[in-house]
Amino acid sequence: AMAQEVVKVGLILPMTGPFASTGRQIEAAVRLYMAQNGTTVAGKKIELIVKDDTGVADVTKRLAQELVVNDKVAFLAGFGLTPLALATAPVATEAKVPQIVMAAGTSIITERSPFIVRTSFTLPQNTLPIADWAAKNGIRKVVTLVSDFGPGLDAEKTFEELFTKAGGTVPEKLRVPLRNPDFAPFLQRAADAKPDALFVFVPSGAGSAVMKQFAERGLDKAGIKLIGPGDVTDDDILNDMGDVALGAITSHHYSAAHDSPENKVFVEAFRKATNGMRPNFMAVGGWDGMHLIYQALARTGGKTDGEALVAAMKGMHWVSPRGPISIDPATREIVQNVYVRKVERVDGQLYNIEFATFEAVKDPAKAAK
Ligand code: DHB
Repeated sequence: AMAQEVVKVGLILPMTGPFASTGRQIEAAVRLYMAQNGTTVAGKKIELIVKDDTGVADVTKRLAQELVVNDKVAFLAGFGLTPLALATAPVATEAKVPQIVMAAGTSIITERSPFIVRTSFTLPQNTLPIADWAAKNGIRKVVTLVSDFGPGLDAEKTFEELFTKAGGTVPEKLRVPLRNPDFAPFLQRAADAKPDALFVFVPSGAGSAVMKQFAERGLDKAGIKLIGPGDVTDDDILNDMGDVALGAITSHHYSAAHDSPENKVFVEAFRKATNGMRPNFMAVGGWDGMHLIYQALARTGGKTDGEALVAAMKGMHWVSPRGPISIDPATREIVQNVYVRKVERVDGQLYNIEFATFEAVKDPAKAAK
């Protein structure tokens, strides 16, 4: 018998360093998808190659080049941080290899290569609903606090534009370094401005430090609400934050508490496969990214021509654990529901409980162009 042809997927993730939780979540979700759906698609054997980018852009680009040239991968996937996704874009373009962004969230990323398709989210997409909610729920004055890189700047800009248009004010915009941040002095400045709410964007994994300092500086006691896109109340770490997180209002595309049959199955299978981990929004980006790869390959009949694969991805839609999603054929960007949620204690565990839905949200930063 003929040996089965192999299609390789290069998965590049931060497996070590400060953003390792993103790598851990996405790798687990991708392996779970493969365990549940088999490793043969359109007659081809799917082989996964996982590389640790250590959270560094130059390393990511070099790994992508090696995966393309030496391993002849048909797909590049992963990309836990915006600078890593951007650094890889020229490699994808040059090699005509689809680059599936499963994590990073800066709007501009998909515009950097016609081979980029995103299954994560964008910060403008996730920020729009919380700006709307705040303006309609008695919040008039908000200080913003963001990590000083692409997604933080996207979140800050989107929030300020929408919230001031709705009549609110943003007297202070604070930016914290991405690496080794000390939130305390920024939270003190925020407290001194006496806002109704503090809008926070920090990347996955950094929310615990913010919450701790928020309480230590007495912002919760002063009645300042914590709002933002849902990265700050990340399911990976939310349960360990304690009571200070209770009542935080965020808008996001995924909660482990999302009430759907697909999500119940996903959360339970993920727990079993990982010795009890709760999937977060990074995991669902990895899960759907792998689904996109499988479905595109099925549609091309196993052909690995990059242009044919990207064409097959455009307009694809399915029901994810997060809800219904699709790939916008014009922008290769994910279109998805964004939910407004409140942190509550359910059966002794902290969860983001969804209470309102903005349906089929496109990246507003692109719609504006
Ligand atoms: C990005 C990284 C994150 O961990 C996150 O929560 C949101 C965005 C990014 O680098 O784009």
